[in-house]
Amino acid sequence: MNAQDRNISPNPPAIRQLDEIAVNRIAAGEVVERPASAVKELIENALDAGATRIELAIKDGGKTLIRVTDDGHGMSEADLPMALARHATSKIDGTDLLNIHTFGFRGEALPSLGAVGRLSITSRAQGADAAMTIAANGGKINPPRPAALAGGTVVELRDLFYATPARLKFLRTDRAETGAINDVVKRLAMAEPYVGFTIRDLSGSDAGRVTFRADRQTGDLFDAMGARLRQILGAEFADNALPIDAERDGISLTGFAALPTYSRGAATAQYLFVNGRPVRDKLLVGALRGAYSDFLSRDRHPAVALFVECDPTRVDVNVHPAKAEVRFRDPGVARGLIVSALKHALAEAGHRASSTVADATLGAFRTETQTPRSYQMDLPSQRALRSAYTMQAPPAGGLAEAQAPFAETPFAPTSARVEQVEEIAATDTPLGAARAQIHENYIIAQTADGLVVVDQHAAHERLVYEKLKRQMAENGVPTQALLIPEIVDLSEGDAALLLDHMDGMAAFGLVIEPFGKGAIAVRETPAILGVINAQALLRDILDEIADLGDSQALTDRIEAVLSRVACHGSIRSGRRMQADEMNALLREMEATPHSGQCNHGRPTYVELKLADIERLFGRT
Ligand SMILES: Nc1ncnc2c1ncn2[C@@H]1O[C@H](COP(=O)(O)OP(=O)(O)OP(=O)(O)O)[C@@H](O)[C@H]1O
Ligand SMILES: [Mg+2]
Repeated sequence: MNAQDRNISPNPPAIRQLDEIAVNRIAAGEVVERPASAVKELIENALDAGATRIELAIKDGGKTLIRVTDDGHGMSEADLPMALARHATSKIDGTDLLNIHTFGFRGEALPSLGAVGRLSITSRAQGADAAMTIAANGGKINPPRPAALAGGTVVELRDLFYATPARLKFLRTDRAETGAINDVVKRLAMAEPYVGFTIRDLSGSDAGRVTFRADRQTGDLFDAMGARLRQILGAEFADNALPIDAERDGISLTGFAALPTYSRGAATAQYLFVNGRPVRDKLLVGALRGAYSDFLSRDRHPAVALFVECDPTRVDVNVHPAKAEVRFRDPGVARGLIVSALKHALAEAGHRASSTVADATLGAFRTETQTPRSYQMDLPSQRALRSAYTMQAPPAGGLAEAQAPFAETPFAPTSARVEQVEEIAATDTPLGAARAQIHENYIIAQTADGLVVVDQHAAHERLVYEKLKRQMAENGVPTQALLIPEIVDLSEGDAALLLDHMDGMAAFGLVIEPFGKGAIAVRETPAILGVINAQALLRDILDEIADLGDSQALTDRIEAVLSRVACHGSIRSGRRMQADEMNALLREMEATPHSGQCNHGRPTYVELKLADIERLFGRT
């Protein structure tokens, strides 16, 4: 709105104090965006009250009913009206906003919910003679009345947003809202393994159905956490995730990060926690992207469950009313820790690709080869068939036969025959011994208990890329000096910010110097980038530093070029390879970190276990 549009009256409007109801509705706009945000507030309150069991009941996506029942310490009669008063909390005394150990501290959630829906709280404090209940409808509070409840607290919120119809219009379908609620509960349940959670859906025909359950875990925290994650994220995630446990300058990082080949098309499988609080934080998400940038294309997202812990005074949670974002005192340390811990874990994983790759392959086979169940070959003809096509590992063949040199096997591949073969025992190595090359692009290798199919181009591309990176790390980044330094004009603040990161940039071949008021002289650039637009690069770097406290832009660009170089310099598909060449490639894959996926996050090989192959043929 500009001044001309506004109706300027000759008398200035009087300033008036808004009443409590209006104030609460305005605050509710920030805290309660949709049913899932109400659920988050109520469950956090139950957790802060020391509950060990929390049950959530919802109806119609939480639009008509949200009820949270807990077995926490409850509230006294005197406290009930206070719980509905704005800025009233039992969790902090207000003297230290930097040392917060509870989910809540603003004293805003319940009054906000009471302002936009029909809220009732029934509670019985430990040791109290009776339970009491209090209600707030659209901001109007009724006095407490006696009620029946054995212990703990039940908070019921009906008809959310009935008092603010504008907000009601923004709600999505019941299904979408239910999905958002499940997500919120899942995240809190991951952070609190010692608490049992259930969700009941009271809508529809099978009303009262339990749609989610996470049982209370016991034992030490690490085991409890692991068991809870497995319960919520499933065995598949657990099987394809790498354990993370790292620490730097008083910030610790634990949890699990999935292999790049287990990536997702959307950032939905990213569960991040700071001091036990689920967050969706830009800095952390950026750090994740940085850690995986080398393995995933931009449209793929890693799956992780990561817990950052540090002294509460080192991270400010009072940034956003819904507390979904945090601000670290030293963002660089947090980011650096995440990037380096994840990169390290991924490097340790070596050539491993996720098990889902094999599952997907088998799934694809199964749909195409589904033979009618009734069809059964008689035993003698099965045997005859088997011996005619035996490659090397019939289940009865044993080690001796599996180790026989390839040349002696009766199998004659049609597309490419492997001539001279070094004697490599299939049992010795994870990726096995090359047995054949088919369609001039796929290497078939036999392992101790299965077979491996390697995409030779994808695998080699990754190997060349890793080698180029290694060389660059060992010998530094070659630079080219600009004959005439390029002068880039920036604001004084931006120039100072870049100069703070001058040494880091120099390590990557970008040499800058101050050039008077707000200007920067670019003297040298990384040779591998060729002629570059220094101004655009510096702006990219600045944006990242401003956002994340650190920049990955330069490394990203260099790695993108290396990746292109690798693609051109590697074995093309369509080239025949000799057995020793193929075996050399397999051995190099085993020795090279990250070789399980190509530069775009696709697998470089697929492994099928004999047991799975046998199942395909209905032999087990
Ligand atoms: N389930 C519960 N069991 C026991 N006490 C509760 C429960 N829910 C709320 N309370 C009490 O009511 C007070 C107000 O809750 P409310 O959620 O409005 O504020 P808060 O949790 O202190 O801060 P925030 O607004 O950040 O959530 C809490 O400080 C707590 O003392
Ligand atoms: Mg609260």
